[in-house]
Amino acid sequence: MHIYPGGWGAYDRKCAGPTRTFGEAQLINAANVLARLQKRSPAYGLPGDFYRDPGIYALELNLLFYREWLFAAHTVELGKSGSYLTLQVGDYPILLTRDRDGQIHAFVNSCRHRGARVCQEAHGVAPKLVCPYHQWTYELDGRLFAARQMGADFDKSQFSLRRIHCETVAGYIFICVAAQPPDFTATRRHIEAYVQPHRLGEARLAFESTIVENGNWKLVWENNRECYHCARNHPELSVTYPDRPTITSTTVADRVVLDHWQTCEAAGLPSAFQISADGQVRTSRVPLLGAAVSYTLSGQPAVRKPLSDALDARLKVGALLMFHYPSTWNHFLGDHAISFRVLPLGPTQTQLTTKWLVHRDAVAGVDYDVDELTRVWLATNEQDRHIVQENQIGMNAPLYEPGPYSQVTENGVRQFVDWYSTRLQQRLVGEKLTDVA
Ligand code: FES
Ligand SMILES: [Fe+2]
Repeated sequence: MHIYPGGWGAYDRKCAGPTRTFGEAQLINAANVLARLQKRSPAYGLPGDFYRDPGIYALELNLLFYREWLFAAHTVELGKSGSYLTLQVGDYPILLTRDRDGQIHAFVNSCRHRGARVCQEAHGVAPKLVCPYHQWTYELDGRLFAARQMGADFDKSQFSLRRIHCETVAGYIFICVAAQPPDFTATRRHIEAYVQPHRLGEARLAFESTIVENGNWKLVWENNRECYHCARNHPELSVTYPDRPTITSTTVADRVVLDHWQTCEAAGLPSAFQISADGQVRTSRVPLLGAAVSYTLSGQPAVRKPLSDALDARLKVGALLMFHYPSTWNHFLGDHAISFRVLPLGPTQTQLTTKWLVHRDAVAGVDYDVDELTRVWLATNEQDRHIVQENQIGMNAPLYEPGPYSQVTENGVRQFVDWYSTRLQQRLVGEKLTDVA
């Protein structure tokens, strides 16, 4: 249940969401959240109700997921004109299309007649988009093409699909449902420099997995942002992925990592740790363990063809790690890339979609074995799903009190929670909720 379903009056000037009255109780709740964030201790985790309270979850949807740029899909998933795919962001059904000119569009997947979902499948290909309810028919660029029995005065031009903001960079499609999205310029520059050499815009989706984790979306992120848990919980990943905290440190990189950056940058691959000023986007290239070049049990490549013709197969490029809060983390290897998309389903439920991309000419069964390609991260995801679920059950206890972070191994978790707390406070203050107490 959402306490603020669909949007608040106070935000409707900026959001595409429906108009609602912003009640006093909700204002007080939001002001309380602000006050608690302002006085939290950054060395400790957030209080338990931040991970289960429907009101706080609704705040997060409205102030984060309906305001930020979110990773939606890869451009290669809309491979040809007429391709479409759908996803759900909170209360927003989203539709992505590629039109006849190759242009990618994002819309609210809601018919302009009486609101039915226009495309119900996860993905497909169609020359036009036909609403299943009464067959209003839309062009791939969102314009209404035909509507039966609507009379002579009916003006089709007034009923195009509602467009939402959409940006593509280095093979990634980002969307934002806010009326005024954050400036994408710096994010574009950052991601492009690091990810473009992996040529994901010319890759092919080899495998996709979607799981539901029974935990709050922040628990999914916090678990991702540390490897304190890796050695005991991830036997497959630990064969190739180093779990020492300096590997992705926000402060100090170790000698092996510094040397790795130097070698890869000399080969034309931007590699050094870089994080945006607001902490939302980070890239860093890490070496894998020993002679490993990929996330396989042997350490050998899972795909015979390198991901990009430009990548030197002899170079141990390790893994480029990239995250963009609150929706995606990614690993780019020499032979394939893996993206992860995080979308909240409820206060204690999160959808995680994982995609494996390979060179477009790589043939399953010839250049790679799909089981070998996916084994390590399917296992790791399942292990993390269990961890997150148990974490949620444990912190649901009314007596739960957050403990301190390890200063050695949990700086990444702290960095995520700092970003979350700062961004939420900025939005709450921006909406003048400080006036309410
Ligand atoms: S709701 Fe789509 S045609 Fe009626
Ligand atoms: Fe994990």
